[in-house]
Amino acid sequence: MKFSVAAIALAFSSLTTVSAFSVGLLGPTTINDNSLTTSFTLRVSTSSDEATKVVDDNESDNDDVNVNNDNEVIFRRNDEEVFGKHKRPTSFATKCASLYHPNRGAERGLATPVYFGSTFLLDDAAHGARLHEKREAPYTDDDGFVYSRWGSPTNEAAALQIAAIEGVDDPNKGAVGKCLLFNSGMSAITSALMAVLRAGDHAIFPFTVYGGTHEFAENFCKEWGIEVTYVDASGVDGPENYKKAFQDNTKVVYTETPANPTMRLTDLAGVGKVVDERYGVAEDTPGTDANARKRPWVMVDGTFATPYHQRVLDIQGVDVSIHSATKYLGGHSDILAGSVTSRSEPFLHHCSKVQKLITVPLNPMDSFLLARGLRTLDVRMQRHGENAIKIARMLEEHPAVLSVFYPGLDSHPDRQMSDGIYSSGRDDDDDDEDSKQTYGGMVTFIMAGEDDIALQRASNVCEHLRVINLAVSLGGVESLVEHPASMTHGMIPREQRLAGGLADGLIRLSVGLEKARDLIEDLKNALDRCDEPANDDFGI
Ligand SMILES: Cc1ncc(COP(=O)(O)O)c(C=O)c1O
Repeated sequence: MKFSVAAIALAFSSLTTVSAFSVGLLGPTTINDNSLTTSFTLRVSTSSDEATKVVDDNESDNDDVNVNNDNEVIFRRNDEEVFGKHKRPTSFATKCASLYHPNRGAERGLATPVYFGSTFLLDDAAHGARLHEKREAPYTDDDGFVYSRWGSPTNEAAALQIAAIEGVDDPNKGAVGKCLLFNSGMSAITSALMAVLRAGDHAIFPFTVYGGTHEFAENFCKEWGIEVTYVDASGVDGPENYKKAFQDNTKVVYTETPANPTMRLTDLAGVGKVVDERYGVAEDTPGTDANARKRPWVMVDGTFATPYHQRVLDIQGVDVSIHSATKYLGGHSDILAGSVTSRSEPFLHHCSKVQKLITVPLNPMDSFLLARGLRTLDVRMQRHGENAIKIARMLEEHPAVLSVFYPGLDSHPDRQMSDGIYSSGRDDDDDDEDSKQTYGGMVTFIMAGEDDIALQRASNVCEHLRVINLAVSLGGVESLVEHPASMTHGMIPREQRLAGGLADGLIRLSVGLEKARDLIEDLKNALDRCDEPANDDFGI
């Protein structure tokens, strides 16, 4: 470690922004400004692409030419200059309070660095002013970071990875989409909703939706003067049910598919179609107001499927993809995180504003853990699915089980849709045999018996398990079991729960990566003893 004392030779007296550039401009361009007359040949690219330059005179080796999100060319001082202008500290207290940086080469670390800083050194006062004037957007641009509530580097690295797996960063497929990361799935959901809903608007939610989402709709949306309608979003009738609920002031058409915990599927293409038919195809002009859009925002919580199975932003009419990254994306039950991805600049701008002012970006350490988890998503999802189908088949055969909901079973009510939805990590150019068809790791089942008996049996089964952990949440490497009617979905009124298929005796299983045989034996043992109350001493 050393304190940087590099000599500073400032070639430019002030930072300069040169506007009037268009994206993708290639070829010679002359830039004139007050402080210098310099002729550059520039290739101005999108923010994810490196800006390159050929400078014919007057250029300082210490200055880079970069572009901001508006494709304005920005002159930035390099890091050595900015850090190097500080005096080497000599007194004890100043040494303690000073910044020490590693020697060059640290940036070659293969893993994403974890940047814990809340704030970032500015080139000069004009730079600080410029950063504070920026229109909020998910990622920073070449003008740099300013303050971690506006966005920070480790967060951005993980967000870029999610945008990639959501398939929205592919320039061959049109507009470049972006991802925002939040400190929980609920934070992602509420931010997406707050980005576009205002008093007097109307939002449509499914009957069967994660309990927290339902609670937000009831306790906040309604309190804030937003009308809420619930519909049966599942199966072939789902799109028609949404259509019947449409109003002129509908601003959000919200879906959760596969639904937690019933595993029912929503026909997203059908929902996109009925929204397009009624309100017209979405046309979002960058720089416009998301709240002024007449067409509702179609949002999908695809937490259970992940982009391994379901790339919802490839579906016509879908605007926003949401995940609780606490679950499969993180994959190790060690973080809370949520993602919101979209191709719409106005939406992303509003959502970034909500993040900046209210909900806060995902913190650096959890961003690192999320990025690490994502690196094994493909193999984890396949193994979750391979284990889950074996368990679902066993459950179907067990006399203590009334019904099983797993999209890979022929008995699943939406089986006709499931092969199309569960894409199992396939790429567009894959041959079918390149990947195994799987259906995710979530299995739910209802215990046999009258309501109160089924309820008691569900409780007994949960307590008899010795390999599978009794805990809420899902999507981690370890198997988890929970009882939604009394836990995650307890806040939804019973009639509404039942209408959505969430019976009192329903058990939700998140199948992990253990050996399938161990899980099956554990479940069989617990099911065989479903009428015995569990021992207080846990049988130890
Ligand atoms: C489908 C779904 N969406 C959202 C959430 C909320 O996510 P988080 O707990 O990360 O806030 C959950 C949590 O279980 C969920 O299952």
